[in-house]
Amino acid sequence: MQTGLRGRDFISDLDFSKEEVETVLELAWDLKMKRALGQPHPYLRDKALAMLFFFSSTRTRGSFEAGMAQLGGHAAFIESRTTQISHGDTEKEMGDIYGRYFDGIAIRHCDWGDGNRYLNLVAEASRAPVLNMQCDVYHPHQCLADLMTIQEKKGKDLRGKKIVVSWAYASSYLKPISVPQSLILQMPRFGMDVVLTHPPEFQLMPEIMAQAREQAEMFRTSFEVMDNMEDAYKDADVIYAKSWGPLMTTADPDDGKILQDKYKNWLVDDAKMALAKKDAIYMHPLPADRDIEVTSAVLDGRQSVVMDEAENRLHVQKAVMALTMS
Ligand code: CP
Repeated sequence: MQTGLRGRDFISDLDFSKEEVETVLELAWDLKMKRALGQPHPYLRDKALAMLFFFSSTRTRGSFEAGMAQLGGHAAFIESRTTQISHGDTEKEMGDIYGRYFDGIAIRHCDWGDGNRYLNLVAEASRAPVLNMQCDVYHPHQCLADLMTIQEKKGKDLRGKKIVVSWAYASSYLKPISVPQSLILQMPRFGMDVVLTHPPEFQLMPEIMAQAREQAEMFRTSFEVMDNMEDAYKDADVIYAKSWGPLMTTADPDDGKILQDKYKNWLVDDAKMALAKKDAIYMHPLPADRDIEVTSAVLDGRQSVVMDEAENRLHVQKAVMALTMS
């Protein structure tokens, strides 16, 4: 067990080694049981977390805020537009000053080409750890919750299990590419064979793809890229299907929408799920475009684990906060 996480940032999925992620998960199981038993676990009494949001949230805000309260501390919800950032507070000032007030700084900043850069600059200036609540490149706490959920459903030894990280159509907006990128980085380390499938214009960042291939090689798993749902879904243990924007092709929202609308048939329905193993699970970080990205029958059906997945955000984040901020 590797326990040296105190004071560490968690911005990229690979900031913690595999053994350190295992430590986080061990604590997350324990915290989940303690909550089920109603046992107090105030590991962060008198500690405070700044939660700085540049983008909306349901689950991330709720789970970090509730998690800090359950750990005996306090989380301050700070919307960027209510700060002086637009009047000149720089990343360095935010990191240096908030690092003096708070014991951790959690940030959600998903703007393409800016979010990850912002988090890293704040982290450079801050004496307190910076936790990534989703940026344009990574969504690492979501991915930890996904991993915990897969282990709950499929067992802790995931070697040889197949996860399909699939693009799906959405009409609401061009969603960030951070979730699929985090998945292809983290899952090979736990023995899963990864199949990534998307239409040609919806590629992920080349440097993340290269890192994912390296992880797959290092952990002796397979990593395959396909361009259709049907072949990819065959014999899968986990279908993780969600939409993301064609950001490698165009960052223009109107041009991106035109590209996205070419692929309305990339909907997850019962017929697609039937291609996977009978006991395959369906995952989505939420929110989903209901009956556009995935049918209600699948989203609310027996194979869907989306509620457990959302719950596990709470437990893994409490584990990360307790280990980095204590
Ligand atoms: N999955 C997720 O990050 O949800 P929110 O956007 O609601 O935080």
